[in-house]
Amino acid sequence: MIDQFGRTVRYLRVSVTDKCNLRCVYCMPLEGLDWLKREEILTYEEIAEVVRTMAGMGLERVRITGGEPLIRRDLSDLVKMIADVPEIEDLSLSTNAVLLADQAEALKQAGVQRLNISLDSLQADRVDAISRRPGSYSKIMEGLDAAEEVGFAPLKINVVLIRGQNDDEIEDFARITRERPWHIRFIELMPTGANLDLSANSFVSCADALRRVRKIEQLEPVDGPFGNGPATYYRFPGAPGTVGVITPMSHNYCDRCNRMRLTASGQLRPCLFGDIETNLRDPLRAGQDLRPLIEETLRIKPERHYLIQGSAAGSGGLVALSQTGG
Ligand code: 5AD
Ligand code: SF4
Repeated sequence: MIDQFGRTVRYLRVSVTDKCNLRCVYCMPLEGLDWLKREEILTYEEIAEVVRTMAGMGLERVRITGGEPLIRRDLSDLVKMIADVPEIEDLSLSTNAVLLADQAEALKQAGVQRLNISLDSLQADRVDAISRRPGSYSKIMEGLDAAEEVGFAPLKINVVLIRGQNDDEIEDFARITRERPWHIRFIELMPTGANLDLSANSFVSCADALRRVRKIEQLEPVDGPFGNGPATYYRFPGAPGTVGVITPMSHNYCDRCNRMRLTASGQLRPCLFGDIETNLRDPLRAGQDLRPLIEETLRIKPERHYLIQGSAAGSGGLVALSQTGG
């Protein structure tokens, strides 16, 4: 799958639900969103059918996302179905880890190879405040322990930078990479319809974060852990982990974009932002061949996103990243 800008797409992010058990301040409004109805959501068999079709066109990697994927019942069943597709070499999952302690083993058995975990602070009261769900910190810590126990490695930890809420922990996060084989990834806050105040007033650039980390000790640029995503990675000399930055606002990495997204309702999106999407669900349910639709979606994949700090204009009507799987 090669688009008109010469980018090869081998990677699909699959959102299995638009719902979440947290309400992170930069993502979902406290009252939640207008949830999809059950019949609007793809079944596991339908998701697997899309993956199989795309696998026949060059897809090699799948990541399961949400909302929060672990709230969908029997997620391991879907994992098995995707892991059974011979072309899929890499199957990963993004989670907030609240429900991970109970599921880590089953997910690993079913075929999840790698985990990304969101953790925006190392302090219990702050995690609870940012996620707006009291008690989430202790569950997340149990989830992290379980993930390591069952052998998930590398573990990537996503930290969304928020001025005044966690930016004074940049150094603490970075220091962890000297002790543990964790890949800490600082992410610049992206504006969506639900977070305009926050993204306008609490933005911290990754350049700032790196400047601060470099004061601890010099950093050397390194190849990242397997993934080839938008992150750029660095390491303290001899450290087992790395510090990565994801810079959607200050630096455009769209020229090496390798992915498309499938929303929980079966819309194929060639870009995280913008309003382009192709309805695969209804044709799939009508028994039509999806390949021409997938090819057409690839053909119209935009060259880049046009996010503007403090404005919803570039996000293409997106209220929250949870709607597209981030
Ligand atoms: N800006 C930056 N990152 C975000 N995420 C969710 N919403 C935003 C946003 N507006 C992050 C989550 C998770 C990843 C999938 O996306 O914290 O780590
Ligand atoms: Fe849930 Fe992730 Fe959004 Fe937080 S960022 S509310 S964990 S979907």
